[in-house]
Amino acid sequence: MLRVLVMNGPNLNLLGTREPEVYGQRTLGEIEAMVAERAADLGTDVSFFQSNHEGALIDRLHEAMGSVDGVVFNPGAYAHYSYALRDAIAACGLPVVEVHLSDITAREDFRAVSITAPVCIAQISGLGPESYTTGLETLLAHLRKEVDR
Ligand code: DQA
Repeated sequence: MLRVLVMNGPNLNLLGTREPEVYGQRTLGEIEAMVAERAADLGTDVSFFQSNHEGALIDRLHEAMGSVDGVVFNPGAYAHYSYALRDAIAACGLPVVEVHLSDITAREDFRAVSITAPVCIAQISGLGPESYTTGLETLLAHLRKEVDR
């Protein structure tokens, strides 16, 4: 069974109350439940991690090496400036799909650039909670292609 880690960065623990006009009404727990349901339908083992701290996210990526097959990751604002997280994604050697609830290309200029996306296998942005399930499906399609090779 494929094992996927779903990671969330800073402020995403506040989903549901945080700027609902941008990020919607669903809590992170509700989004995770939705992802867990889709993962179960797709026969995939899924685990979750959220932190507001760059180092904790980096540590979790290091721990993921050898224990999961891939990662769905919403780095939050770190996507726009954390070279350390970018390096950790590149270093862990795992396929990572970057996801964002909002369309980061249609907001402030500073959000339009993701410095983490170039070391990810794909970026899904702007689909709301569906960004996570689409991210999961994109990752699984990639992993299944790898197995067939
Ligand atoms: C976000 C977009 C980021 O620009 C922002 O800093 C977030 C959330 C999103 O999911 O749309 O924290 O990653």
